[in-house]
Amino acid sequence: MNVGWKLMTVVVIAMSGVQASNTTCRTPPTAPNYVNALYEGHWFEMGRSQTPGGAALQVGCMCDVSDFVTDEPVQGNGTISYVCRRFSPQADPVFANATLVDTGNPGEFKQVYPYPNSRPLNYYVIYIDEDSAVEYDCDTNDNGVTNYCVHILSRTATIAADKEAALLQYAEDLGLNPDGIEYNPVQQEGCW
Ligand SMILES: *[C@@H]1O[C@H](CO)[C@@H](O)[C@H](O)[C@H]1NC(C)=O
Ligand SMILES: *[C@@H]1O[C@H](CO)[C@@H](O)[C@H](O)[C@H]1NC(C)=O
Ligand SMILES: *[C@@H]1O[C@H](CO)[C@@H](O)[C@H](O)[C@H]1NC(C)=O
Repeated sequence: MNVGWKLMTVVVIAMSGVQASNTTCRTPPTAPNYVNALYEGHWFEMGRSQTPGGAALQVGCMCDVSDFVTDEPVQGNGTISYVCRRFSPQADPVFANATLVDTGNPGEFKQVYPYPNSRPLNYYVIYIDEDSAVEYDCDTNDNGVTNYCVHILSRTATIAADKEAALLQYAEDLGLNPDGIEYNPVQQEGCW
């Protein structure tokens, strides 16, 4: 991240505090079939419903993908790497890596970034099958501001519209988008 981006991020996060709602983090059920082996590997992000504070960190991101790597096929810690491109499919990739720390509940992790003072995010895989997954993460900061995000993930760079709608509805029905944030599709076209 260059200095301009860092400043922009700080400004946007500060502004998002102004609209703080009384939303709290939810503790959804994780996918009953969750095992690490199902989540491991490469995912394309199809879209997300994300509060402004979290969205600031991904400003302009497109072509978002993630890779989950773990030595534990059933349950345990792993690392997750994120790559996106900012404002253009031809832009240089931007990386972020984090650790997913097993909480003992299959599919529920604390996501920890290796930055000083970074806050562990509550991280839940709430749905998973061979082709797709839904992940919810959330944090309430020291000022009581809650930021959350619902991510729709696919093993391929596209997803059937009806499947995407059903996955989103599942998250909505669990009450994971209390602020009614509009779903924001991620551009994958032209990336691969
Ligand atoms: C949040 O709760 C506080 C205390 O109950 C209340 O004063 C405030 O208006 C609420 N804010 C919003 C955005 O609902
Ligand atoms: C992030 O993780 C990826 C995939 O595991 C790895 O190739 C890359 O070197 C890591 N980057 C950093 C900065 O740790
Ligand atoms: C998982 O990661 C946490 C935090 O780094 C660590 O305390 C714990 O020992 C790890 N668990 C295993 C089984 O390695």
